[in-house]
Amino acid sequence: PTANIGVVGLAVMGSNLARNLASREGNTVAVYNRSYEKTETLLTEHPEAGFVATQDYAEFAAALQKPRTAIIMVQAGRGTDAVIDALTEVFEPGDIIVDGGNALFTDTIRREKAVRETGINFVGAGISGGEEGALLGPSIMPGGSAEAWVTLKPILESIAAVAEGEPCVTHIGTDGAGHFVKMIHNGIEYADMQLIAEGYDLLRRVGGLDPAEIADIFAEWNTGELESYLIEITAEVLRQVDAETGKPLVDVILDQAGAKGTGAWTVKSALDLGVPVSGIAEAVFARSLSSKPAQRTASSGMPAGAEEWQVTDRDSFIEDVRRALFASKIVAYSQGFDAIVAGAEEFGWSIEKGDIAKIWRAGCIIRARFLNRITEAYAEQPDLVALLTAPYFADAVGGALPSWRRVVAGAALAGIPTPAFASSLSYYDGLRADRLPAALIQGQRDFFGAHTYKRVDKDGTFHTLWSGDRTEVSAADAH
Ligand code: 6PG
Repeated sequence: PTANIGVVGLAVMGSNLARNLASREGNTVAVYNRSYEKTETLLTEHPEAGFVATQDYAEFAAALQKPRTAIIMVQAGRGTDAVIDALTEVFEPGDIIVDGGNALFTDTIRREKAVRETGINFVGAGISGGEEGALLGPSIMPGGSAEAWVTLKPILESIAAVAEGEPCVTHIGTDGAGHFVKMIHNGIEYADMQLIAEGYDLLRRVGGLDPAEIADIFAEWNTGELESYLIEITAEVLRQVDAETGKPLVDVILDQAGAKGTGAWTVKSALDLGVPVSGIAEAVFARSLSSKPAQRTASSGMPAGAEEWQVTDRDSFIEDVRRALFASKIVAYSQGFDAIVAGAEEFGWSIEKGDIAKIWRAGCIIRARFLNRITEAYAEQPDLVALLTAPYFADAVGGALPSWRRVVAGAALAGIPTPAFASSLSYYDGLRADRLPAALIQGQRDFFGAHTYKRVDKDGTFHTLWSGDRTEVSAADAH
């Protein structure tokens, strides 16, 4: 056997990852695709890569040195199970199967358990960065066993993006930990994109700026604390002019956002874990709302009851939007990290939060300057209970408050939807509140279902005899 690594699945992501692997010193890459045509195309287009082409799984396995390592890059779902089954037939104990797709982490937990019984290692690895990332250096989030990581480490480090000299890959935790963290990455990606979109909408509808002017503003923001890949590409998208109509491209794109499901998975998991990822949830729901043409058309004539938002000082309005965006973004990351902490506890993973922020600094879609601050925050306080309360973030949010409130209140008065800005601010106000109306909810629950409550002034669990004489009894004597 001549190859030290193999790739199964040669669609764009798989081909690019295979080329990335082949371009690194010392690697010989075996490739396999269900239809051989794609393999041939890849070989013809990239003879420099020195790929070892194989036509079936047996040939693929025979081409690989032991322990065999194969990265699966097929569309997540049933296809993944079929490939795993085929590989376990031809692989041997000690070999490693890596699933580099966007698999649901619970599927990864199930697959890892099943494959482990054969003695083969199964590693679910989140890979972020799109097509370009796969080719030039993605951010990689591998789960699986520590034993498999020993073999995978040098290979994955060689192809990952590099941030300040460090490769953007680390062993996240056992079984599904890597795919779980990738899922949260995508949830944050959804929130980040929605916040940027809300900021753009305000600059356009309230600030009266055109897409090209807003592109300049985003480009300018990209030189400061908001610096990130998503802000950078936003400027590019807004600057693009449609060749056919001469209009800004953003004005001819149908305003119905698609979604492949990872954002919704994040919210579903967070619901199960009891973690309020409200910013991410609003981002997912905003995409759903946008994609309901019948409901939107039926509602389009409904009254706004709005007031015109008079902007007197355009520069300070733009600065208000920037600060609201930054504060809301901090909330989204804070919520995402809360979900990681809760997931780690629930599924028994030991996850280094600071290391996650580190490997997100380059390669991935949410790469951003302020991720260094997250790493620092967790380095200073490993048991930080809420990212939001770390000094840098508390200061940033604190400084943004007047702007943030003006933007959310102004948008509400003007009838402009800002679900992610508004829910992030509400989340912040909820967290910092001394008392929440949750006390009333407990009272209601006790009234209709004798669900009991605790008191602020003494230990124990209590119930009021609502349908009797309304005296309070200790819950132990309630029934
Ligand atoms: C990445 C991305 C990627 C994701 C796309 C599309 O990290 O490279 O998160 O994995 O598939 O962003 O996602 P949606 O189609 O759901 O927007």
